[in-house]
Amino acid sequence: MTDIQTYANQIKETATWIQSHTQLRPKIAITLGTGLGKLVEDIDIVDAFPYKDIPNFPVSTVEGHSGRLLFGHLGGREVMALEGRFHYYEGYHMQQVTFAQRVMKELGMEVFFVSNASGGMNPDFLIGDLMLITDHINLFPEHPLHGPNFPGGPRFPDMHEVYDKDLLKMARDIAREKGIRLVEGVYVGTQGPTFETPSEYRMFHRLGGDAVGMSTVPEVIVARHAGLRVFGISVITDLGLEGVTVEVSHEEVQRAAEKAQPLMCTIFREMIARL
Ligand code: HPA
Repeated sequence: MTDIQTYANQIKETATWIQSHTQLRPKIAITLGTGLGKLVEDIDIVDAFPYKDIPNFPVSTVEGHSGRLLFGHLGGREVMALEGRFHYYEGYHMQQVTFAQRVMKELGMEVFFVSNASGGMNPDFLIGDLMLITDHINLFPEHPLHGPNFPGGPRFPDMHEVYDKDLLKMARDIAREKGIRLVEGVYVGTQGPTFETPSEYRMFHRLGGDAVGMSTVPEVIVARHAGLRVFGISVITDLGLEGVTVEVSHEEVQRAAEKAQPLMCTIFREMIARL
């Protein structure tokens, strides 16, 4: 843990470095989840910075995350994309897990698009489904806003409408126009790195969850604390359903995500074009 003033200074330093290395000034930031990096192929990349070259940036370690910050054009708009995120289970502090969201705010971003791979618990879901995240349940053992309040945001942020209603409507409209199957639900954020036992999947579903994963929630909480509008899609890569629970592996999650991602890319691209 870094004290809050030092942390805020680091964020400013990182944002200043980024602004002096790219001429782009996007208002839209995107985080690409496990196996969901294909959207990068749709981006006309102008500048790409490996995380290790960016002052104060954490470096991601998991297979399937290449760790670059990209600036370019998507759907006719300037965007910033994070190829690879920082998971709590890797050993990062919450300040590191959510560092990029603080930098987004400092760079003047207004909208945060987030994606992840997750295990489906709703019996109507199929592997490969795209789930619009309508709400979340935070089960991380440490809160990303724990500690002195980060300057600029409320001490007690409201969480009634974390996922922007207008963006959700836009996604539904696009899916309808393009004949893309969408499901909707509540994302449960857990620390991992274990996948769930059958009893845990059952418990999370009974608690009101539709999908479960090991990311997103801390990032989204910080993005909301910073005042960004948030839109999230979960790709259902495996199912934790009573009677059909089968073994899950990281490779399987990546394969399922890769298969489903072209449709997710279409939705993100179209939404960004219409913003
Ligand atoms: N559980 C937790 N995280 C996940 C899962 C899951 O079933 N699938 C992909 N990420």
